[in-house]
Amino acid sequence: MEVTGAEAAKPKNSTGLGAKPNASEAQFPANFLWGTATAAYQIEGAWKEDGKGESIWDRFAHTPGKIKGGDTGDVACDSYHRYREDIAIMRAMGMKSARFSIAWPRILPNGTGAVNDKGLDFYKRYVDALLAAGIRPSCTLYHWDLPQALQDKGGWPNRDMAGWFADYAAIVTKALGDRVTAYAIFNEPYVFCYCGYGIGVHAPGIADMGQCLKAAHVANLAQGDAFRAMRAIAPNAQIGGAYNMSPAVPATDSAEDRAAAERMHAVNNIFFIEPALTGAYPKAFAPLEQMGFQPGDETRLRAALDWIGINYYFRMKVRADASEKMMGYRAEIPHEGPLTHFGWEVWPQGLYDIVTRIGRDYHLPIEITENGCAYADPPGRDGTIKDGRRTAYFRAHLTELARAIKDGAPVRGYHAWSLLDNFEWGEGYSQRFGLVWVDFRHGRRIIKDSGHWYGQVAAMGAVQP
Ligand code: FCB
Repeated sequence: MEVTGAEAAKPKNSTGLGAKPNASEAQFPANFLWGTATAAYQIEGAWKEDGKGESIWDRFAHTPGKIKGGDTGDVACDSYHRYREDIAIMRAMGMKSARFSIAWPRILPNGTGAVNDKGLDFYKRYVDALLAAGIRPSCTLYHWDLPQALQDKGGWPNRDMAGWFADYAAIVTKALGDRVTAYAIFNEPYVFCYCGYGIGVHAPGIADMGQCLKAAHVANLAQGDAFRAMRAIAPNAQIGGAYNMSPAVPATDSAEDRAAAERMHAVNNIFFIEPALTGAYPKAFAPLEQMGFQPGDETRLRAALDWIGINYYFRMKVRADASEKMMGYRAEIPHEGPLTHFGWEVWPQGLYDIVTRIGRDYHLPIEITENGCAYADPPGRDGTIKDGRRTAYFRAHLTELARAIKDGAPVRGYHAWSLLDNFEWGEGYSQRFGLVWVDFRHGRRIIKDSGHWYGQVAAMGAVQP
């Protein structure tokens, strides 16, 4: 079945809007923001069209040996050209919110300087199409595709980055200001600092913990600077961030392992939230000197975030390990639950655990900005995609989320990762996270069974047991 429009995407067996859920269902609040998430480099393609500059991911993917199978994001899902089709699918699925990101090098091909109007126009058209479909645009300013020209000046470890990023954030907010009311400044700053500068498995491919710590501090400064610039332009916008979070489970009950787990929570989960909200790094991990902390930075770090976005994929088991000089712990994904195609453990209760903790510690509205799983199920003979494991994954996670909300967690939205199968960074196209299958040769999209199921959940505001 090829998706052509609303009809094709209607949830199967839908009981329709307004159906009365029974008591055993996991029920969500009215006006809950049901959505999907994507990121520019992972779906857009058109890597050098309409004046776009080169990004660090273009450079990295074009370097032999960096990405599985030699894959690149040159074409990806071709969403730069097919975005109207993507939005029609979201609409047909009954989505209320679309999380997407802006490619900085489309707006400022060299990172700073002259604005490329064609790039801005693309996102204006994108946002207008979402609004016309009755879908809230939720805009992430940076999902890892730094202009290569700025990496050539040192990239995130360079303190000048904070000002350059704030200028870019201001340009976008000014251009979209009246259309967009929800912003995430960064996607997973921990991941782009650690994987990009600490261990080099992501762009720009640098493996140097010294650079990683500097990058992390500059990213925190940039978050504060960008927040102030954006607030001045769009005082009513909801400005937050999307942070990767893994509940830290001590490997044993020893005092050392419990302390190690808290340290991991500080490093992995709240390293970009605490400075914004308190002006200080978490006490459990704050190597100020190595990060290049300067007097006055404590004020610049601050950003009174309106909301916190949580990207949840897995929990981590943590044990104290003195041979790990910097952090003093080792963390790994356990294998007690079933594993996805990516090898990530499926652990739905982890979502409950992290959401309730963040809700308790920060008292800010929470949105799940990403949660999802990779399975490879291909289209069958009849053209449908029977990805029952993905449906089971979402059912279990949403049930845990409903329980967290019932227990008081202030969660107002959920975005499945991802709308489409897409370019999964170092894994290329080998990991399919979509609710919608993408044929990467021809760009054709097919809603998977899980996508139909998710549409039904959104329509009902409840998950059947
Ligand atoms: C997250 C990223 C997202 C996607 C998922 C699977 O870390 O934010 O772009 O790759 O993982």
